[in-house]
Amino acid sequence: MNKAGSAVILGIESSCDETSAAVVRDGVLLSNIVAGQEVHRKYGGVVPELASRDHQKNIVPAVDIALKEAGVDKKDLSAVAFTRGPGLLGSLLVGTSFAKAFTLAAGIPLIEVNHMQAHVLSLFIRREKQEPVPSFPFLCLTVSGGHTQIVKAESHLSMKVIGETQDDAAGEAFDKMARFMGLPYPGGPEIDKLAREGNPGRFIFSCAEMDNFNFSFSGIKTSVLYFLREQLKKDPRFIEANRPDLCASIQHTIISALMKKVVAAAKEHGINDIGIAGGVSANSGLRKAAAALSTQYGWNIFIPPFEYCTDNAAMIALTGYYKFLKKDFSAQNTAPLARMTF
Ligand code: KG4
Ligand code: ZN
Repeated sequence: MNKAGSAVILGIESSCDETSAAVVRDGVLLSNIVAGQEVHRKYGGVVPELASRDHQKNIVPAVDIALKEAGVDKKDLSAVAFTRGPGLLGSLLVGTSFAKAFTLAAGIPLIEVNHMQAHVLSLFIRREKQEPVPSFPFLCLTVSGGHTQIVKAESHLSMKVIGETQDDAAGEAFDKMARFMGLPYPGGPEIDKLAREGNPGRFIFSCAEMDNFNFSFSGIKTSVLYFLREQLKKDPRFIEANRPDLCASIQHTIISALMKKVVAAAKEHGINDIGIAGGVSANSGLRKAAAALSTQYGWNIFIPPFEYCTDNAAMIALTGYYKFLKKDFSAQNTAPLARMTF
C-alpha cells in the first residue's frame, strides 16, 4: 500500500506493436495510454526490430501521460507491473528494463505479468466499481493476432488453458487471407466490413478438425489460397467481383470453428459465464454468434470495450493489482520470455 493506504499500480505493456502505460488504483482504472505503431502497415505485418525502436521512443512519454491523466505522482505508486511474455523478445525487453529501472529507483515492488492471463483479466477492467463481471469459474476465448486459446478461470490468478491453436492464430488467419485478397493490414477489420455485404454460404471452406478444445487455422488459409489461384486462372477479376462473398464465407468458417469449441468446452465444464477477449473479439460476426449462443444456452457473455480487447496496459496494471494483493513480486534479475505459459 502507499502512504494513503491504497494500492496504486502502474502497468507497462510492450509485447508487440503497442506501447502502453496505465494506472489502476484499488482495482479501478484511472488511465490507459496506448501508442500504436503505424510503421508496420506498409510491411503488411509487425517488423520486430522496428517495434523495439518505437517502444524505446514511446515508453517514457506514455508513462508520463498515464501518470498525469490519472492524477498520480510517481511517489504515490505502490508497484510497477510489466508484461514479461509471451511476445517479441526485443519489444518485451524495453518494457521489462523500464519497469526494473523504475522500481529500483523508486524502491517499490516489481510485478511480472503474463500477457495472456492479462487478456483474460481484461474482462474485469472497470472505470466504475459496480459494472458487471463474470463469476468464477468462467471460460474465456482469447482471440488475437498472436493467440487463440480457451481458458478456464477458477479465480483471478488461477487459470488453465484448456484448448489452443496448434498453428496460426485466428487473427493471423484473418490477416493472411485478407492479404491474398489485396486488402490492407490488419486484414481482420477489413474482412469484417466487407463480410456484412456478403453471403456466408456462397463459398464452402473448412477448418481442420482438432482434438479436444484445440484449433487449427492454417488449413483454411492454404485452401483459400489454392481456391483463389484456380479461380483467378479462369477469371482475373474473380477476387474483385466476389470480395464480400469471399469475406463473409471466410469469416463464417473461422467463427463457426471458434464457437463450436466454446460450446463443447462450456458443456463439458458446465459453465454459463463466457468471456471473449483479444483483438478479434471486435468482429461483428463473432459478437452476433456469441449473442445467439447466449440466447440458445442461457449464457452470460462478457466482451470488454474494444480499447481493452486489443493490447493495452490497463489489463497489465489490473493483473498487477491482483498479484500485489498476494505480494507476488519479482526479482530484479527477471528476464523477458518470448514464450511463456501459465
Ligand atoms: O489483440 P490484438 O490487438 O493484438 C495481438 O495481440 O495480436 O489483435 C490484433 C488482431 C489482428 O489480427 C486483427 O486483424 C484482428 O485482431 N482484428 C479483427 C477485427 N479487429 C481486429 N479480426 C476480425 N474482425 C475484426 N473486426
Ligand atoms: Zn495481446
